[in-house]
Amino acid sequence: MAMPLIAFLECSRCHLHLDATTPQTVCTACSGTLYVRYDLSAAVSLKQRELVGKGDKDAGWSGMWRYRQVLPDVEPVTLGEGWTPMLRSRRNRNVWLKEEGANPTGTFKARGLALAVTMARHYGIKKLAAPSAGNAGGALAAYAAAAGIEAHIFMPKDVPMANQVECVAYGAHLTLVDGLISDCGRIVAERKAAEGWFDISTLKEPFRVEGKKTMGYELVEQLGWEYPDAVFYPTGGGVGMIGMWKAFEEMEQLGWVTGKRPKMIAIQAAGCAPVARAFNQGETVSTMWQDAHTFAPGLRVPKPYGDSMILEIVRASAGTALALTDDEIFESLKDWARHEGILLSPEGAAATAAYDRLLATGFLKPEDSVVLFNTGSGNKYTDVIAAKLTQEGLL
Ligand SMILES: Cc1ncc(COP(=O)(O)O)c(C=O)c1O
Ligand SMILES: [Zn+2]
Repeated sequence: MAMPLIAFLECSRCHLHLDATTPQTVCTACSGTLYVRYDLSAAVSLKQRELVGKGDKDAGWSGMWRYRQVLPDVEPVTLGEGWTPMLRSRRNRNVWLKEEGANPTGTFKARGLALAVTMARHYGIKKLAAPSAGNAGGALAAYAAAAGIEAHIFMPKDVPMANQVECVAYGAHLTLVDGLISDCGRIVAERKAAEGWFDISTLKEPFRVEGKKTMGYELVEQLGWEYPDAVFYPTGGGVGMIGMWKAFEEMEQLGWVTGKRPKMIAIQAAGCAPVARAFNQGETVSTMWQDAHTFAPGLRVPKPYGDSMILEIVRASAGTALALTDDEIFESLKDWARHEGILLSPEGAAATAAYDRLLATGFLKPEDSVVLFNTGSGNKYTDVIAAKLTQEGLL
């Protein structure tokens, strides 16, 4: 089954077309994030949809590569990412948990970095650099090791221990920074030219979004090629939300799904909620959140690069953006551990807590079908969770 050639890269803001035969970062005219565009005509029709996953055996790659009809035509650097379980809640048949903790390196970051590192190897790039809230760094370290590429990772010094351990174990160059992901991003930007690094930061190259779009394909396929009523996405940089929305647009063009797109719910933490604040104030961009702090490290992004894209998607889908306190998040984490047998990441627990809140406010009804993203495994956060349990006298 053929994989499509990339036709061009398209700026999400000014729609300028750029060539994909050489590595690109952001739009050369306006610095907007670039989308990958293909000629997908060969994949149009329900007959083509039936071929999804059929090529895995011949190719020797599976997971998210089951969607090879809509991914770039290159040999992947794969560790088995994607095609994660869709688990039905034991307490409400209409609630589905997309268990991204099953990915290599234990989070959904594997999808974006598998594709971004695949393309980096394809372009012959030798050194990659990125700031990270933790999990993207771990995933980059793993895929770079698999590809034989150098990785330079900058993370806040208080990221969970698992993230530090994985970077070092995979042989990446790790720098712990006394600051936030925004400070880490600044260091990469300042040093990349002199060091010869390619900047693989969130939304500053086109392929992390492209890898994460497979979450949109998967959730629709796993629900029998139907949209749910709402998708709950713990939002830091917002890459997954942007990727899933792109997937829905493509799937409609392909004739693979019809009907009303889900309400997209952007979930943030009360101690760092630039998107939720902008949404509530009717703004189209966010402003830098001061003194960002939360128990969910992946949500500690004080000013996402793609804020306007996230806000546009939330509004276009008739969704909402909301922020939960650390206490609400931790209560939901314990609730799902005790009643569902699932140890959520703090970010995932923000999604489950948000579902409870939106049921209570009447924004959603128990009969609405929802997909809650557990973006990572709770097992990557034993130090963070232990501190909370200790605080509550439970450990
Ligand atoms: C577990 C987890 N969930 C959610 C996020 C936020 O992801 P995004 O940047 O796609 O919004 C992160 C980012 O670090 C994360 O590690
Ligand atoms: Zn542009």
